[in-house]
Amino acid sequence: MKIVITGSLGHISRPLTEILLHKGHDITVVSSKEARRAEIEALGAHAAIGTMRDAAFLTETFRGADIVYAMETLGEGAFMDHNLDIVTEITQIGRNYRQAIADAGVKKVIHLSSIGGHTDQGNGMLNFHYNVEQILASLPASVSIKTMRPVGFYYNLLQFIPTIRAQGAIYQNYGGDKKEPWVAPEDIAVVIAEEMEAPFEGRSVRYIASDEVSPNELAQILGSAIGREVRWIEISDAQMEQALIGAGMNPTTAHGYTEMNAGRKTGLYEDYDKHRPVLSPTKLADYAKNVFAAAYSKS
Ligand SMILES: NC(=O)c1ccc[n+]([C@@H]2O[C@H](COP(=O)([O-])OP(=O)(O)OC[C@H]3O[C@@H](n4cnc5c(N)ncnc54)[C@H](OP(=O)(O)O)[C@@H]3O)[C@@H](O)[C@H]2O)c1
Repeated sequence: MKIVITGSLGHISRPLTEILLHKGHDITVVSSKEARRAEIEALGAHAAIGTMRDAAFLTETFRGADIVYAMETLGEGAFMDHNLDIVTEITQIGRNYRQAIADAGVKKVIHLSSIGGHTDQGNGMLNFHYNVEQILASLPASVSIKTMRPVGFYYNLLQFIPTIRAQGAIYQNYGGDKKEPWVAPEDIAVVIAEEMEAPFEGRSVRYIASDEVSPNELAQILGSAIGREVRWIEISDAQMEQALIGAGMNPTTAHGYTEMNAGRKTGLYEDYDKHRPVLSPTKLADYAKNVFAAAYSKS
């Protein structure tokens, strides 16, 4: 099949591209950087260089595709950019995708959404995933859409390294012993590749998770991987928001991030809990040993 993969050679899109090429599909990878072309072509895929902020570019790129994998991102540094409203900008990318899918006549779409994509209430900045889900849902019924809702990615844990290094602690506005789901991006790629080849009909939603652990268990897992005690300390929403702003985050983004985290204690997982997936194979302890510990020792 002719498949267009957005997200360049990112955490999900690289392994996804490799799996699909291995299965013999004709793959076009979208990257915003000309410098990425050689790496994409070396894998055996076609490169389409342009931005998902450009609906006309997306339309040309999607023409003739049997399936499009659509993910929305603003790239590195977006959270720190004080001139960027991420919810507004990502919602616009969703409109670009809608227009390009309709104008190019694409009939099968796999959309990378997120945990929290089921609601616009109490999920903070994840509102943009809800917005894009709604925009794509307004495509004609002849367009089949598989919505992927992965939970929090393992690589988010790397942001805890500075305070673990400095104080042996993780500070977040949630905590405790209630288990919550986490996912390895390479496990997401495997699920999406499987969905590419499964029958496509109508609209469906699939949650993707690799492991379920509580914040206190997570501190213990990370601690044992790096060989020191790590404590999880729950702080207030106001303290969290101030810490993020102090670290240079756009204040609106900091508010949305804090609200998203607070949602973990209220409704963020309500729909996931009703549709819990079979857990994928990469476990948090493996990630902690193989990736987190190496990043920590380099810090
Ligand atoms: N972190 C989480 O816990 C979590 C949870 C659920 C869902 N998600 C969603 O997962 C997605 C991130 O997936 P990922 O980790 O696979 O992505 P990623 O590794 O961050 O890669 C995305 C790639 O897209 C390319 N890109 C950036 N801006 C672009 C633009 N304007 N136009 C075209 N390409 C652009 C960049 O590559 P080039 O430099 O080559 O262009 C970038 O490396 C986001 O939608 C996020 O909301 C995240």
